[in-house]
Amino acid sequence: MMRFKKLAVAMAAVMALSSLVIPAAAEEETQKIGISMPTQSLERWNRDGSYLDEQFQAAGYDTILTFSDNDSSQQVNDIQNMLADGVDILVVAAIDADSLNTVMDEASEVGVPVISYDRLISNDASAYYVTFALATVGAIQGQYIVDTLDLDNAGDNVYNIEITAGDPADNNAPYYYNGAMDILQPYIDSGVLNVVSGQIDFDSVATDQWNTQTALERAQNILASYYADGTQLDAWLCSNDSTALGVAQAIESDYAGDNTVIITGQDGDEANLANIMDGKQSMTVYKAVANEAVVTLSLVEAVLNGDTIDETLIENSDWDFECAYDNETYETSEGVVCPSFILTPTTVTIDNMQEELVDTGYYTVGDDGYLVAVG
Ligand code: GAL
Repeated sequence: MMRFKKLAVAMAAVMALSSLVIPAAAEEETQKIGISMPTQSLERWNRDGSYLDEQFQAAGYDTILTFSDNDSSQQVNDIQNMLADGVDILVVAAIDADSLNTVMDEASEVGVPVISYDRLISNDASAYYVTFALATVGAIQGQYIVDTLDLDNAGDNVYNIEITAGDPADNNAPYYYNGAMDILQPYIDSGVLNVVSGQIDFDSVATDQWNTQTALERAQNILASYYADGTQLDAWLCSNDSTALGVAQAIESDYAGDNTVIITGQDGDEANLANIMDGKQSMTVYKAVANEAVVTLSLVEAVLNGDTIDETLIENSDWDFECAYDNETYETSEGVVCPSFILTPTTVTIDNMQEELVDTGYYTVGDDGYLVAVG
């Protein structure tokens, strides 16, 4: 009898112990990244969205990717849905940063960090910023015009120029405009450069939503009003490719001069690269958004791991592209610096398109001889 009793006690002990066994750690939930892009109607954001989505998924994260049709209220809604879906971090390219304040505050309240992607969100919820050197983009455009017209050796010559800037709701647009005007303004002041239409200040030359048709119609109005009498137009400063596309179309259809008008751009949109090959646009400032996605992935991993975020993120990387850590320039509110990772843009013309875009693998050459973006 005693034997059975001992067995019963032993079994009870085993059962008691087994209830103490710590269950296997609850399977770690896969972390989720919310990627909010502004639109698919502007070419580059399609590439940003797919690069970011691919990078994060390849790194083992779940992702939610949205494009908000350049509709700010839609973007607010998309981000609120991401928060409701329990994302662990947000990567946001704002359509209109000011319209995101409420949802940014909501993200802060639930402890979801935000990465400002390409366009700074001026809300303290934006913990970090990844972009290309904004003023440098404009400076490259302005300097290209100065060098191509050889303004430093203009003598008594006067060169006529017009200006098309970006979306006033886009935090980046004034940086591009001011970067270029810092270079060009001295030549305007000295009379070497003449803005015939008189439209110079940012608000006069801005383009809602970077819209090609809007840029086209404004350029047609300027050409009809100031150049129909045979006045020569020598250059048109455009802050990006979607606006340059409209300006180039207006010049092709509505400018009677037989000279080549220098037109600048930014982004390396396929239609604009074709225009550069066909001599209808002079240059674009290329920003390898694949690299912007790589930096963003590393930053997100560091944030989610609770690592210290500083220049060591760059120093410890194996990146084969330039990136600078900037803990001074950008603020999300008065005195609140937003630590930033700044990539370097490059100038692309007909002369270096093969080397800068095809040899690097960012584009391939299509059957028609024009470049096609990879990814
Ligand atoms: C800007 C962006 C540029 C430009 C524009 C249109 O914020 O930095 O690449 O193309 O948006 O999407």
